[in-house]
Amino acid sequence: MRLDEQALRQMFLEARTLRAWQPREVPDALLREVVDLMKLAPTASNGLPARIVFAKSQEAKERLKPHLSRGNVDKTMAAPATAIVGYDVKFYARPPAGQEPIKGLADKPEQAQAAAFRNGSLQGGYLIMAARALGLDCGPMSGFDNAGVDKEFFAGTDIKSNFLCNLGYGDRTGMPPRGPRFAFDEMASII
Ligand SMILES: Cc1cc2nc3c(=O)[nH]c(=O)nc-3n(C[C@H](O)[C@H](O)[C@H](O)COP(=O)(O)O)c2cc1C
Repeated sequence: MRLDEQALRQMFLEARTLRAWQPREVPDALLREVVDLMKLAPTASNGLPARIVFAKSQEAKERLKPHLSRGNVDKTMAAPATAIVGYDVKFYARPPAGQEPIKGLADKPEQAQAAAFRNGSLQGGYLIMAARALGLDCGPMSGFDNAGVDKEFFAGTDIKSNFLCNLGYGDRTGMPPRGPRFAFDEMASII
């Protein structure tokens, strides 16, 4: 069934990247719901490489702060939560309970990295759509020091950071109009 107009507005037509935030908390239960939705969307061989840390406490935000690009500091410190979206490069060896490890990647690190990044990035996109479906606004960011974040949050693991995503209820005051998009023919074809 096609989603109704209101759902399309919330998910796409009126959804924007938010950079200012209302002082309204995002409950932990809502962040759990975001994950419970996004994890259902597809990944190759159900590999599920994404790993997420939600930095919500002041202490966690302070750990993130030194690794942010200057332009991303204020918006991130003001956001009720910031998802550190990472991926496990050895995801193939760590399937969810009840699923066999994925064969054929252990001795092919480049392929494993590509698969983890591809599917982990898809899952990051799913996270944005899940958050929007639950009424949250998102502010994705790649302006940060990945190596620094990896050392601070993922030391001793096989997890690498991909992008950050501020989450909360946005403040649209003074927000500029949406940037242009391509016409269908400029970015797609039907053959
Ligand atoms: C992976 C990714 C990285 C981004 N990095 C940043 C960033 O570091 N800082 C920032 O202010 N916006 C960042 N953005 C926001 C984009 O510029 C924004 O989503 C895009 O211009 C579309 O804006 P709209 O959603 O309002 O239409 C990023 C978006 C994505 C998806």
